[in-house]
Amino acid sequence: MKRNKVPKQTRVFRALTIFSSGMGAAMLALWALDMAGMTLSSYREAATFGAIVLGLASLAGAGTAHAYFAGGDDASQTYEALLSVDSVTGLLSRSGLAESLDGYVSKGGGPSRMNRFFLISLDFDSLRDFNETYGLETGDSLLRVFGDRLQRVVGDTGLAARTSGGEFVIVLAANHDDRELRAATEALLGILSLPVRVGNASHSVFWNAGVAEIHKNNPPMERILRHANLARTTSRATGRGTWSIYHPEMSQVAAYRHWIEAELGGALQRDELMLHYQPKVHAVTGETVGYEALLRWNHHQNGSIPPSEFIPIAEQCGLIQQIGDFVLRRVCEDLEQLPDNISVSANVSPAQFNRDDFVANLGRLINGTEIRPDRLEIEVTETLLIRNHSEVRRLLAQLRELGILLAIDDFGTGYSNLSTLNELRFNTLKIDKSFVDRLTDKDPAASTMVASIVGMARSMGASVVAEGVETQDQATLLRAAGCTIMQGYLFGKPQPLSAIKHHHRDSEAGPAGALPAVPQPEFLAAAS
Ligand SMILES: *[C@@H]1O[C@H](CO)[C@@H](O)[C@H](O)[C@H]1NC(C)=O
Ligand SMILES: *[C@@H]1O[C@H](CO)[C@@H](O)[C@H](O)[C@H]1NC(C)=O
Ligand SMILES: *[C@@H]1O[C@H](CO)[C@@H](O)[C@H](O)[C@H]1NC(C)=O
Ligand SMILES: *[C@@H]1O[C@H](CO)[C@@H](O)[C@H](O)[C@H]1NC(C)=O
Ligand SMILES: *[C@@H]1O[C@H](CO)[C@@H](O)[C@H](O)[C@H]1NC(C)=O
Ligand SMILES: *[C@@H]1O[C@H](CO)[C@@H](O)[C@H](O)[C@H]1NC(C)=O
Ligand SMILES: *[C@@H]1O[C@H](CO)[C@@H](O)[C@H](O)[C@H]1NC(C)=O
Repeated sequence: MKRNKVPKQTRVFRALTIFSSGMGAAMLALWALDMAGMTLSSYREAATFGAIVLGLASLAGAGTAHAYFAGGDDASQTYEALLSVDSVTGLLSRSGLAESLDGYVSKGGGPSRMNRFFLISLDFDSLRDFNETYGLETGDSLLRVFGDRLQRVVGDTGLAARTSGGEFVIVLAANHDDRELRAATEALLGILSLPVRVGNASHSVFWNAGVAEIHKNNPPMERILRHANLARTTSRATGRGTWSIYHPEMSQVAAYRHWIEAELGGALQRDELMLHYQPKVHAVTGETVGYEALLRWNHHQNGSIPPSEFIPIAEQCGLIQQIGDFVLRRVCEDLEQLPDNISVSANVSPAQFNRDDFVANLGRLINGTEIRPDRLEIEVTETLLIRNHSEVRRLLAQLRELGILLAIDDFGTGYSNLSTLNELRFNTLKIDKSFVDRLTDKDPAASTMVASIVGMARSMGASVVAEGVETQDQATLLRAAGCTIMQGYLFGKPQPLSAIKHHHRDSEAGPAGALPAVPQPEFLAAAS
């Protein structure tokens, strides 16, 4: 298939040049509209034209970006013969790019003789959805639309390729200034992210980009591509529509990630994961009313690895399902060994809810034990509630049917609204540590806020647990605000099952029946 040629692009980029040399935005807009009217048949919408004008204006507004695109009309003839072409988009293929890269760099990116070269890797997040929803045909035309857009922006002054699936690569030359690179990358993302028309509907597509500089000694393309892709994946973690420039530290982070990913599977087999239990204490009676189960990983060689590091990776690589099963199974087993007026809460990741059989499995698990279902509490974060509302509501209703309790974790850090909360009929609200940390005599607003959260929870028939309580002052202020159940280092660190079992045996044997091994704060003695 012949490579798509878009003869009109040079006019556009001349327009950019005119703009940045001072002839003004009106001229640019005229040129851009002219171009849009003539060639953008696949997404002909007034809004789209406007956005293109904006995108190009932002490109030109940087004043320097035209450097990429000036001149170079004859570059295509030089490379045309070498090209290996992607049959869908008419852009270079992966191997075509590898073949063309050396020539492009050694020729200084065309007649303008730039001295820095960048590879920009771009991809969008919904090709699979498009393929599944609309069929491969539509997937192909989508790719063609993006290919056209890229070809139009890059013209013959850079290289444009589709390297795999929805992954596109641009190679550009620049002079010294990083601002040029920023302007060009953002303009690329802006133009690619314009809505696409599929059938009768217009779709938004979100792109991420990663940039790697191609150095003079010209390493193999595969390595540069790997770096750019790494920068892209790193930027994706910070949100849609973002981009970043490769930095060697990213390789270290990625290596650590891979290590965790590789070791996690083994961790389950080697039985390195375990639960520690942190007490929740009634602030008036000093009694332990329950525990939160917290996951610990003690690697056989590298020691303790914090959950904040391995849970997000487990969520991404899918191991969270097995890990979540392990946690719930272990909690149910351990509950059988604890007094039956003690409950345990376990954190459930939103990813676990994605599985259709989550509730059914949990039901079977509970059925297989002697424990009352209301001794098990599931902690979910507000993030889950914001996502697919109706689906979540259905799942949580099923959990309630089983008799399992529901807690909203880290309350105050998300964006759930009161009507959502009310509908969910949760049993417990856990006030996030960040609120508790702010509780001091000097910040009366924090106390008022906690008091109103407690009041709200009460009016919904739920109990309140304050998390991360570390000082007597915090405990005093929390009690004054009406919060009676507290969790935090002041009341006890997470401990293995054996330690907390010991505590309950001692309590039963003890004279008053309640002699907590967790230190009882002094103010309690004064209060009772
Ligand atoms: C979607 O379909 C396109 C076009 O056939 C194909 O190139 C691409 O690899 C597919 N991607 C996925 C994720 O299925
Ligand atoms: C698109 O809209 C036209 C005109 O309104 C209609 O005839 C056609 O069936 C629609 N196509 C699809 C795929 O919905
Ligand atoms: C649980 O039961 C034990 C033994 O009957 C009793 O000592 C303890 O106070 C009870 N704890 C709670 C929180 O009710
Ligand atoms: C884990 O321990 C091994 C052996 O002590 C060491 O070589 C490796 O660098 C450690 N890995 C990490 C990620 O800390
Ligand atoms: C639990 O067991 C009871 C009695 O055997 C049964 O009726 C019920 O359907 C089971 N529930 C689940 C969720 O498996
Ligand atoms: C509350 O949040 C839910 C879920 O995000 C949303 O569907 C609903 O419209 C919101 N209600 C109000 C009154 O904002
Ligand atoms: C939310 O869940 C419902 C019910 O399963 C489903 O029909 C809907 O497509 C989902 N919406 C999103 C945005 O995932």
